[in-house]
Amino acid sequence: MTVTSRTQVGIVGAGPAGLLLSHLLALRGIDSIVVENRSRAYCEARQRAGLLEAGTVELLRTVGLGDRMDAEGLEHGGIYLQFEGERHHLDFRDLTGGRWVTIYAQTEIVKDLIGTRLAAGATIEFEVSDTEVGELDTERPVLRFTDAEGTRHEVVCDAIAGCDGFHGICRDSMPPGLIHVAEREYPYSWLGILASVPPSTDELIYCRHEDGFALHTMRTPQVSRLYLQVPADEDIEAWSDDRIWAELKHRLEVPGWELKEGHISEKAISPMRSFVASPMRYRRLFLAGDAAHIVPPTGAKGLNLALADVTVLAKALSSLLKDGHAGLADAYSDASLTRVWRATHFSWWMTSMLHVDPQSDQFGAELQLAQLRYVISSRAAATMLAENYTGYFPLTWNTELSEAQVVPRAQGPGQQRGQRRGDPGLGQRERCAEAALGAEQVQRPQPVP
Ligand code: FAD
Ligand code: DHB
Repeated sequence: MTVTSRTQVGIVGAGPAGLLLSHLLALRGIDSIVVENRSRAYCEARQRAGLLEAGTVELLRTVGLGDRMDAEGLEHGGIYLQFEGERHHLDFRDLTGGRWVTIYAQTEIVKDLIGTRLAAGATIEFEVSDTEVGELDTERPVLRFTDAEGTRHEVVCDAIAGCDGFHGICRDSMPPGLIHVAEREYPYSWLGILASVPPSTDELIYCRHEDGFALHTMRTPQVSRLYLQVPADEDIEAWSDDRIWAELKHRLEVPGWELKEGHISEKAISPMRSFVASPMRYRRLFLAGDAAHIVPPTGAKGLNLALADVTVLAKALSSLLKDGHAGLADAYSDASLTRVWRATHFSWWMTSMLHVDPQSDQFGAELQLAQLRYVISSRAAATMLAENYTGYFPLTWNTELSEAQVVPRAQGPGQQRGQRRGDPGLGQRERCAEAALGAEQVQRPQPVP
């Protein structure tokens, strides 16, 4: 037997993207259902991101999700860049006019979101199976799934959001030939550990070492998170706890500094990939977060991008479903992809500058070092890193936008292409991005003092 029901937005995936989308839609009075094939406990414990851009933090505060983050998050005003055995500090506040980042784990954001949604009476179906999306050529797409008790459901929706991560089903449900994929695989992976030991540093250390990249980050004042570059096809069994600590100490070593060791509670290897699927929409099926794009983790953009996508998408769906205006929905893919490609470039650049490429040679290594020396010696180069790291496009939630702001009008005198919104340098794609992001104040690079 199949149980049929109705909602406004069907959301596939209870990761950060799907959960925040359902919260933002609820703030605008729009009903949704979230279906997730893992258990609640699994979603809340899955170790992943830890670093939030300033704009992501402000967004979470604005939408009522900031209490625990403000109490427990760790605000950082810079990072250390280490290479050739020396550690250099980059001061983001100084470089960017006061911008910063916050350490607050993805696990905690997911817990906050699940708690908030369930307290509000939302429907989140965990441990579903056989998720399908159908009737995509119509204005009533259908979400089908089997719940944890084995009952088959068919939910008729006004729109479906594919927030089901890189391995989800929504991207592949789009019509064949629609999606264009641009991607890079990197010839190395990250071995990440979570350790019960206070961090040995006040801010993150990104280290290029001739034996491979290392990163010292953290989760709380008592818990450290560290990563090591390892070969692409590495077996985690090859890395005993002792070997991991020895390698971290070796790569992160600088005179007068010591890495504190502790119990390793988790270790896992993650592949490194850049992947962008476009467009991020087919009619009333919208992709968001890792379902549409993946960046290598260096630079910490993936979670921030996922939350940015659904902020744009929530406004677009609200305009479409409440006001009958399709302009923001039509602009969604281009608006998101502008941000995605900026972050894709930055993540690729950070990754390429800091990792040892086994297929490269002395020439490649010297280029990396030349780039690193430039970043620490040129204020312009350091500002480029700082501005991207802290978040290039600010996010806003409360800015109300009319469809007229994103739908191009006939051009009249004094209203030439690129001149409607005050910035004479902007093309249509950037204008759509600005408008859909609610970002009248998109920050352009600041002049170097
Ligand atoms: P996901 O978190 O993947 O959520 C998708 C959900 O959909 C999952 O819960 C999945 O179980 C569910 N699902 C899949 N298929 C189905 C189906 N058929 N039916 C129902 N449900 C389904 N990003 C940062 O910004 N900062 C960082 O510091 C950072 N560090 C990282 C470190 C590592 C080691 C890794 C691996 C990633 C890191 N990232 C970081 C990236 C970040 O974790 C991801 O970009 C983020 O999880 C994307 O969120 P999402 O909701 O789009 O997808
Ligand atoms: C973390 C991960 C990253 O990839 C990064 O660049 C910074 C921080 C983290 O897990 O804390």
